[in-house]
Amino acid sequence: MAGVVMPTGKTNSQPPVHEGSFKGIVYVICIIAATGGLLFGLDQGFIANSLDTIDGVYKLGVKGGENYAAVLAWGGILGALLSGLFARLLGRKKSLVMAGFLFSACSVGSALLPPIGVLTVLRFLLGFAVGVASFIVPLYLSETAPAKIRGAMGTLFQLLITIGIFLIALTNVFIARLVENPQVALPLMFLVIALFALVMFFGSFILPESPRWLMLKGRKEQAIRNLQRTLSTQEEVDFEIKEIETTLSAGKSVGGIILKGYFIKILIVGVVLQMFQQLVGINMMIYYAPTIFGYASMTGIVAMMTVPVVNMLFTFPAIKLVEKWGRKKLLYVGAICMLVTMVAAGLSFHTIGTATDPSQVSSGAKAVLLISVIVYIFGFAVSWGPVAWLVCSEIFPLEGREVGMTVTTMVNWTFAGLVMANALSFMKAFGNSSIFYLFGAFCILAIIFVKFFVPETRGVTLEKIEADLRAGKPLRSLGLD
Ligand code: BGC
Repeated sequence: MAGVVMPTGKTNSQPPVHEGSFKGIVYVICIIAATGGLLFGLDQGFIANSLDTIDGVYKLGVKGGENYAAVLAWGGILGALLSGLFARLLGRKKSLVMAGFLFSACSVGSALLPPIGVLTVLRFLLGFAVGVASFIVPLYLSETAPAKIRGAMGTLFQLLITIGIFLIALTNVFIARLVENPQVALPLMFLVIALFALVMFFGSFILPESPRWLMLKGRKEQAIRNLQRTLSTQEEVDFEIKEIETTLSAGKSVGGIILKGYFIKILIVGVVLQMFQQLVGINMMIYYAPTIFGYASMTGIVAMMTVPVVNMLFTFPAIKLVEKWGRKKLLYVGAICMLVTMVAAGLSFHTIGTATDPSQVSSGAKAVLLISVIVYIFGFAVSWGPVAWLVCSEIFPLEGREVGMTVTTMVNWTFAGLVMANALSFMKAFGNSSIFYLFGAFCILAIIFVKFFVPETRGVTLEKIEADLRAGKPLRSLGLD
């Protein structure tokens, strides 16, 4: 997860007769499944405040640190690629158990401080599990959570990613401060991830298999039994079963969508949107903000916690604003905030230069840098963070959605990996300001792209988007009357 946000519940069918009485167990089910989002965040956020500790044990240097950080993304690409297959062949539940197992085994394995080659393979496998979880968790939630709370569950996943990033930043700061010896501190940091991973692993065993997958495999009896565990009345169970049957038969009758010109066009929109979600530079901040603040002689709790705190807090308003303002407006606002602050941060680094003596750095330049980072993260968290995933879950016609989301997720991880693997070396090679200007330039391109090619999907049904696509309407006008 990135994070994947579920479609906003727009389907072919009518709402149930009486929407929404469900049993309390549903919350337990959703929370266990959503720990997949938390683990996404824990692994994504792990690097920021552990880089010095990792360096203390493994002496990786800048390039080695970047490579270790980025290998998560390479695993994520493979996980995202194969997750559709796992979801179909193994089922949703077993795929979640598998991801939970990988999260647990790889974080415990890392805590044993193996040689760097093995540690890197373990981070690759953690990335693989993140890739699988970021596809399966939203899918499972959308298929298992009752209609009434489906939308909320989708955003819960996104929120948990940012909570995970925050939590691991916090625990890593504490561990690094309390335990001076990196040989002891690093295992403790990994064990925090292991703790949540074990909750997911053991918890996944009690999850009911998704009724939709069971129906896909012709196991109607079991699907009915599982629905009876979550829904309150037999009437609702019958409704769900009918709805699943309708969707499945519609899915079977339409094939070959991925070769259609209109699908390829909308796929390119999703691909470029996810590319820009990363090329605006978010993971430079998520991964390396403490290091970059360090270049400006800013250390301490503010340097370590600003990004994860602001990122988490401003994901909350995004949930409301996507419906109130619409997707495109948020994307513009976010990109403009990021553009302005990237330029400001770049300028402040001109003043800061390559000062090694903290007393040489003016407090004005430090303040500009800090404010820029805060507003930048606000701009991302409230817009591109959730919206890129949301739009990708909305623009694809139903039968092409799995392929569309797999491809766009892989693109997201690819560009995330490129940023993680190169940001610091780029600063070293071309000067500290350079990378901020580069990401600022991508913000400008992103704004132009949104203006001309991204449709506004707020309040539009999937059917309308598909009909407009088939009719050859310009991409930015899809869904408009
Ligand atoms: C992005 C991740 C990023 C996270 C930060 C997600 O939407 O896809 O790459 O680390 O947001 O909150």
